Amino acid sequence: MSRWSIPPDLDTMGPRPGPSPHSMEPPMTKPNMTGQPPSRSTEESSGVAGWIDRRLPVISGFRAEYIDFRMPKNLNGLWNFGAILTVVLLLMLATGTFLAMHFIPTATEAFLSVEAIDRQLPGGWMLRGMHVVGANLFLAALYIHLFRGLYYGSYKAPREILWISGLVLMVLVMATAFAGYVLPWGQMSFWGADVISKAVGAVPVIGGTLEHILAGSDQLGDIFLHRFFVIHFILAFLVVAVVGIHVVAVHVAGSNNPLGIEPKTPKDTLPFHPYFTSKDLIGLVLFALIFALLMFFWPGLLTEPDNYAPADPMHTPADIEPEWYFLPFYGMLQSVPSKFGGLLAAAGSLLILFALPWLDRSPVRSMRFRPLCRVGLLGLVVAFVLLALVGKHHAQGSWMALGRISLLYYFGYFLVLLPLAPRLEKTRPLPASISAAQGDA
Ligand code: HEM
Repeated sequence: MSRWSIPPDLDTMGPRPGPSPHSMEPPMTKPNMTGQPPSRSTEESSGVAGWIDRRLPVISGFRAEYIDFRMPKNLNGLWNFGAILTVVLLLMLATGTFLAMHFIPTATEAFLSVEAIDRQLPGGWMLRGMHVVGANLFLAALYIHLFRGLYYGSYKAPREILWISGLVLMVLVMATAFAGYVLPWGQMSFWGADVISKAVGAVPVIGGTLEHILAGSDQLGDIFLHRFFVIHFILAFLVVAVVGIHVVAVHVAGSNNPLGIEPKTPKDTLPFHPYFTSKDLIGLVLFALIFALLMFFWPGLLTEPDNYAPADPMHTPADIEPEWYFLPFYGMLQSVPSKFGGLLAAAGSLLILFALPWLDRSPVRSMRFRPLCRVGLLGLVVAFVLLALVGKHHAQGSWMALGRISLLYYFGYFLVLLPLAPRLEKTRPLPASISAAQGDA
């Protein structure tokens, strides 16, 4: 028998309880942690499905992870956003691929090619509309998803890697969105890119070199645009790969829940299908309604009028401001009197989230039981929104003072309140179990 041939018994193999130590048969199903029998295992599968599954357990894997997989039964609507993000990501890849077929990444033709997609390509306006609205709602869903993690303490053990993979996604998605915004080469694309490349140039010692690497030449033009087109494309696919890791990490650690306590018995959980498939579907339909409303009725709400004028390096717009989802970071950039300091504050605001599992030492996860930190987290959201307003008002006058206070609060929450909370806070008693909290123990 050659090294790669299938052992003769594999084709004729009947159902067996599990692989023997000497068997080359792939494991049939992952053990079900709750001790409940799976609905229908592949041990019963015959025909082509069984044949494939014994060689590559995709069918039994899918069944174990998406049909029989048990989730805490008390998940609320905030647990819908992972599925929403996954679907919007697929939509972004599909629409982006078709847009890329018509986009021309040169300084003279980029703007015109986007206009042609909007006005001449059959259905092009819808393709572009979906990509633009999709980008905005993707970022909105991402912020809600992240907030859910902060509120229910989903970053705590054993979910640290899950949290960190999420943050890597966040950084990648932000970079992808920024690179994408440059592509139509309108006034805001150009001047937004100018602000950021100058901010990068403010890094001591290596700043000039970094700025030159980013721009590719002395001024932002063809090389820069081509570079950003490639970056936008590649990052989007990298995001898909990291989502794979993220979702595996969710399935290894299991979902947290609003009470922040682990399920203790099968009574605390429900199978993924049909309970959470139907719940996710309802969330997706509601989300699709908002998506359609924005795309068909208020397309101007999310776009910047200045970006409908072609990039003009000789004419600075009166107001340079990024998309709403970058405004809080723009506010941070402006609240610090030095360019490099602003860059450090904006980058630090994201980096500090990576250390969160180790900064928050409280044994209680969910903010429902943490009165002090719950108020503190509310303050963090207010500070984040205020920083966005500061960014919108260019940190002038009293906005500057507000920006600095909000920035101090932002870092204070992570560096002072959370580390000191176990000493300062009297947490509320946790319920004995999820079922007990719901009164059906
Ligand atoms: C491309 C972006 C992302 C996608 C497609 C994605 C997808 C998912 C999915 C499908 C789930 C399981 C369903 C759910 O719990 O909602 C999940 C859970 C989770 N995600 Fe993400 N995610 C993304 C970004 C992020 C970010 C930016 C963070 C925060 C740093 C994050 C942190 C988490 C955490 C902590 C969980 C488990 C939450 C829990 O069970 O309480 N994810 N994600």
